[in-house]
Amino acid sequence: MPTLPTHRPRRNRKSQVIRDMVQETRLTTHDFIYPLFLIEGQNQQLEIHSMPGIHRFTADRLIDEIGRCVELGIHTFAPFPAINDALKDRLAKESANPEGLYLKTVADIKRQFPDVVLMTDVAMDPYSSDGHDGVVDADSGEILNDASLEVLGQMALAQARAGADIIGPSDMMDGRVAWIREVLDQNAFGHVSIMSYTAKYASAFYGPFRDALDSAPKKGDKKSYQMNPANRREALRELALDEAEGADMVMIKPALSYLDVILDVKNHTNLPVTAYNVSGEYAMVKAAAQNGWLDGEKTMMEVLTSIKRAGADAILTYFAKEAAAVLRRG
Ligand code: PBG
Repeated sequence: MPTLPTHRPRRNRKSQVIRDMVQETRLTTHDFIYPLFLIEGQNQQLEIHSMPGIHRFTADRLIDEIGRCVELGIHTFAPFPAINDALKDRLAKESANPEGLYLKTVADIKRQFPDVVLMTDVAMDPYSSDGHDGVVDADSGEILNDASLEVLGQMALAQARAGADIIGPSDMMDGRVAWIREVLDQNAFGHVSIMSYTAKYASAFYGPFRDALDSAPKKGDKKSYQMNPANRREALRELALDEAEGADMVMIKPALSYLDVILDVKNHTNLPVTAYNVSGEYAMVKAAAQNGWLDGEKTMMEVLTSIKRAGADAILTYFAKEAAAVLRRG
C-alpha cells in the first residue's frame, strides 16, 4: 500500500474559524481609493453605459456621493472631470483655471469634508483637443515631452492651490515627478504628496474610462508614452526614476493583468505601492455578472484580495463603494 500523506495542509482549512485565523491577506475599506467622474451642471447623475453602477455626477451630487462613501468608511477619492469640448485646446489651458469645473469642485469638496483625502489627476487628456496626455506637435503629431512638463507643472500647482492632498500624475512624461515636486516646493506646497503612476501601460482596459470622459486620442495611440504591456523590467526602471525624483507613493496600472509587476515593484521599493483596478477590469466583472455567468460579489472580493495579495497597499477601484458595503456587512 502506498504511504499515506504525512503533511496535510487541509488541516489549516478545516473550519471557518481556522481559515480566518491563517488568512494572510485581509481587505479593509482603508485600502480603497474611489475614482469619481465629474460633469458640468446641477442635480444630475448619469450612469456610464459600460460601467454599470458607476455614474458621472454633477458637483452637487458628487458631494452627496462622497458623504455616503464616508459613512461607509471610504476616505480617499480620485475625481476625474469630463470637460466640455468648447473648453478644450492644444495646451489644455482649462486645466489650470481655478474657476473651472474641476478645481472649483475640488475646493468645494475640501470645504465640506476637510478630512477627506483628494488625489487629483495630472494629465492633459480631459482638457486636450487632441485627447492626448501631453502636448501634440501640430506638424509631426509627436508628443512633446518637455513642453508637456510646463503644462503639467501648472496643472499640479493649480490643483494644490485648490486643496488637493495628493497629486497623481498619470501622463507618463519623462521627468514629470521631479518637475512637479520642484514647482510645488517652490510655491510652498511642500506638504502636498505625489502618487506617481509609475508603471502605466498602454492598455485596452481603459476603454470604458475614455467613453466616460470622452477623452480618447483623436489621432494615434498612447504607445510613445505609456508602457508596452509585454515589459516588466522596464517598470523597475520607472520605479527607480520615480523614487529618485521624489515620489511619495508609486502605482501600477492596470492591476489584474499586471499582478507580477505589482509584486516585482513591491519587492524593489520601501514606498507604499498602489494599484489601479481600471475601468475595463470593472466592466468585465459587471458584464459577466449581469449575464449570470459569474457571481459578481464573490468575483469582486476575489479580484480586490488578489491585488492586495500581490503587494498593493492601496487600490484605486470602482468597486470601492460596493466592496465597502460587503465588508461592513461582514
Ligand atoms: C488619463 C487616464 C486614463 C485613466 C486614468 N487616467 C486613461 C488613459 O490613459 O487613456 C484610465 C482609468 C481607467 O480606465 O479606469 N490620463
